Amino acid sequence: MKLVAISGSLRQASFNTRLGRLMADLSPAGCEVVLKGLHGIPLYNADDEEARGIPEAVEALRGEIKAADGLILITPEYNGAMPGVLKNALDWLTRPGEEMKPTFGHRPTALAGATPGAWGTAMAQSGALINLRQLGVNLFPDFLRVSRAGTVLGDGEVDAKLRDQVGAWLERFVEFARG
Ligand code: FNR
Repeated sequence: MKLVAISGSLRQASFNTRLGRLMADLSPAGCEVVLKGLHGIPLYNADDEEARGIPEAVEALRGEIKAADGLILITPEYNGAMPGVLKNALDWLTRPGEEMKPTFGHRPTALAGATPGAWGTAMAQSGALINLRQLGVNLFPDFLRVSRAGTVLGDGEVDAKLRDQVGAWLERFVEFARG
């Protein structure tokens, strides 16, 4: 089984990307977690879509999602919401309209997020529910929220408790995705 995890941060030292790497490291037995980023995805513009179609970077990511048994969206929180970079990618991935269902419909999908703050991206995740309902995913109701990311996912070793938490969460998501 394959899970695709997408980090919603472009930042090189991103805590959310680090969380994605940790997930890849902790891939449960019989399961591979592949981490993908959003570099190279332009801002959505319907004129560009009409003139040039869907960008290669979007089609490549779509291919990864379609080939996966589950999707993990790892979202930072910006002003209480998912960053524009991630929302923009989701918007592209629903274009053209007939691609929305095969890309997202009923796909087992989990939300995760990391922040240096105290609330583990809870607001961004709650807001994302509106988008994910629109996309028609099969939402894993157990959200992974990582607070105090500077301490637990900082430059030093990953916090041991966090490793256990992420490993156990992945096992639960794999079970959910297997149906
Ligand atoms: C933030 N940050 C932030 N954190 C949070 O917990 N709640 C929030 O509402 C916000 N708002 C916010 C807005 C903007 C514009 C920025 C740039 C940052 C802090 C944010 O969690 C922090 O920068 C993380 O490090 C971003 O994630 P990555 O890039 O480390 O993955």
